[in-house]
Amino acid sequence: MKNEMWSGRFEGVSSSLLEEFNASLNVDKQLFKEDIKGSLSHAKMLYECKIINQNEFNAIETGLKQIQNEIEKGDFKFDIKDEDIHMAIEKRLSVLIGSEIGGKLHTARSRNDQVATDFKLFVKKSNLEIQLLLKELINTILNLAKTHKHTIMPSFTHLQHAQAVSFSFYILAYGFMFLRDIKRLKSSYKLADFSPLGSCALAGTSYETDRNLSASLLGFKGIMPNAMDGVSDRDFALDLLYDIAIIFTHTSRLCEELILFSSSEFDFISISDSFSTGSSIMPQKKNPDVCELIRGKTGRVYGNLVSLLTIMKALPLAYNKDMQEDKEGVFDSVKTALDSLQILNAMLQEINIKKENMLKACQKGHLLATDLADYLVRKKNIPFRQAHFIVGKVVAKAEKEGIDICEIKNLKQYDENFDEDANALLSFENSLNLKVSEGSSSVKSVETQIKILENFLQETKI
Ligand code: ARG
Repeated sequence: MKNEMWSGRFEGVSSSLLEEFNASLNVDKQLFKEDIKGSLSHAKMLYECKIINQNEFNAIETGLKQIQNEIEKGDFKFDIKDEDIHMAIEKRLSVLIGSEIGGKLHTARSRNDQVATDFKLFVKKSNLEIQLLLKELINTILNLAKTHKHTIMPSFTHLQHAQAVSFSFYILAYGFMFLRDIKRLKSSYKLADFSPLGSCALAGTSYETDRNLSASLLGFKGIMPNAMDGVSDRDFALDLLYDIAIIFTHTSRLCEELILFSSSEFDFISISDSFSTGSSIMPQKKNPDVCELIRGKTGRVYGNLVSLLTIMKALPLAYNKDMQEDKEGVFDSVKTALDSLQILNAMLQEINIKKENMLKACQKGHLLATDLADYLVRKKNIPFRQAHFIVGKVVAKAEKEGIDICEIKNLKQYDENFDEDANALLSFENSLNLKVSEGSSSVKSVETQIKILENFLQETKI
């Protein structure tokens, strides 16, 4: 069969294999709202620039609105022969209002700038939706942080016990990661805020158009200054894919810890029944599937980023059909991010923190050792390296006795450099509050960190 949109110069008909292979309709029909919005703004600009008349504009507007209605109601007949959403809508418009007028919509426009514009509108919208969910997630983290300023837990390096911290301090670390994610999205948004519409095939148009008008009708801050770049650029999609990839680096680390912490080995937390799953064979099982899925989905979103980077690599300017492969991964990453952030937030709101178990875990691994070394430096002016060695000996002695240094009654019996007052160091709450540097684990510092995040949420408009 012959394609009605571009078959003027063709004598032969398209193979049905080509029709299927060439079509992107099943993927890009997701862009129908953006496409109609883009066309409405383009038509308005054509009218304002006296390229079409009032009647023509009115007919186009009515037709496009009807098409939007049809698609939303599920009445629109999608046909793969139309190739993509842009042609499907334009063809339907000509059926509704006649091709005399319908055929004018594509004046001073090409599918190349049309698809770039639609895609950019989708990316901008998704960017804001993800920012909103990140804000909600930070809010949940703040609530946990405010409740658990005195909930003491071990921290880890190499997954070995390191120092005592509070659960607030620990969870706030994620709050600041998600804050950076919002900032990263904001900076990508700014870069994406320039309209390619009116770039046409690649060289602009001989009509006196007003690209700034259609850009501002679409909510863009400005226009892309070079038409060839306008139709070739997919940085905005890559930026979003990268931003999502980093978000998943963060959520996968958090989820990994929630999985570990809910195991019977750690038993620091439990995930509520509403976000846990059972086993078909083992009746006792309660599995952290949500966390595992978010961790697993990280693979997809990294893959989508690498996939588009590879598609774009070394492509000659301007548009190439390779670029039709740009959308599926972005749609997938956006949906994955929206779904995952939403469920992660809901799950965290219901998480149960097992304070006693966390405190009990602190009694292993000699978490207070660094505090003892710092004491010797501060009180006895012993160089840190030497103090480190002395405390190392204390640890070795305690290990031989089968105790943790937090159980020592009198430090002087272990090393004569310790005075009576050193025994006060053998408390975890004290250990937190000994840290006075900015950003540290002390309750005071945690309160400052909570304020910083609260202020960020208040000041951040999305
Ligand atoms: N379906 C195409 C895409 O998504 C639209 C652009 C078509 N442009 C062209 N020159 N064939 O990339």
